[in-house]
Amino acid sequence: MSALLETSALTVTYGGLNANDAVDLRVERGKLVGLIGPNGAGKTTFIDAITGFTHVSSGTAEFDGQPINDLNAAARAHLGLSRTFQSLELFEDLRVRDNLLVAAERRQWYSFLNDMLRPRAGQRAYDEQVEWALSVVGISELADRLPVDLSHGQRKLVGVARALAAQPKLVLLDEPAAGLDTAESQLLARQLRSLLSHDITVFLIDHDMGLVLNVCDDIYVLDFGRVIAHGTPAEVRSDPVVIGAYLGESAGEAQAREGTAHSSHGDRTGSTNGRVR
Ligand SMILES: Nc1ncnc2c1ncn2[C@@H]1O[C@H](COP(=O)(O)OP(=O)(O)OP(=O)(O)O)[C@@H](O)[C@H]1O
Ligand SMILES: [Mg+2]
Repeated sequence: MSALLETSALTVTYGGLNANDAVDLRVERGKLVGLIGPNGAGKTTFIDAITGFTHVSSGTAEFDGQPINDLNAAARAHLGLSRTFQSLELFEDLRVRDNLLVAAERRQWYSFLNDMLRPRAGQRAYDEQVEWALSVVGISELADRLPVDLSHGQRKLVGVARALAAQPKLVLLDEPAAGLDTAESQLLARQLRSLLSHDITVFLIDHDMGLVLNVCDDIYVLDFGRVIAHGTPAEVRSDPVVIGAYLGESAGEAQAREGTAHSSHGDRTGSTNGRVR
């Protein structure tokens, strides 16, 4: 069976810099696929390109057997693509349930018609989606709380639940574990694995190596916009190219290497290279 998401030579160019450079990547249905790489490697750009938030310069992306290059973000969401953003913004004056409701309603561009014809039925469907998303992420008990009363870890889980409220086939998560402590990160890991049994395929970007190496079935490593490695967590962990570019190298060595080998790639700093917790 074809992959749920497949890109071929996907390239995104910003002012002469290839933020994604001929990326070939497959996400199989029912798998948890990770994308790691140093700051500025092009990870968020990849999610932007897949979800229609940036322009693809060349190459193709197919989702669920359909080319998506020419579709806008709303059309892609409608096909079943959903994402989180690197800096999580919740609506602070809305209860958790209503934060999700906004996202559930947004997916359906024809919802206004639905609402006119079958007002109560439409609302019930949204309510059910929201309750489902809360329970899948294991935070049903937070439904009536305001974001301000939540811990950082709980807020992150609300962000994941919000991305699920539209019942996507694939959810792309951009650093959901940023700022979480170990216990919170382990809870997140369990919840992400459990999504797979709800027919949601997961694509995960994170700098928390413990999380990524533990939960992913398959990992891609990006450096300067290019895929430099791909494999199981065990393969990626022991890959000398990955260790050199990301996992094991001190910031100073990385900077020295970048100054020579990659001087054409602009101003990426090495200071946060190898940000491994
Ligand atoms: N909208 C944009 N316009 C111009 N350049 C951009 C834009 N978005 C990203 N870039 C550049 O593209 C490159 C990749 O950035 P991107 O945000 O995808 O990296 P990242 O891997 O997500 O990094 P981080 O780990 O810090 O989140 C960087 O050089 C960045 O400055
Ligand atoms: Mg990013």
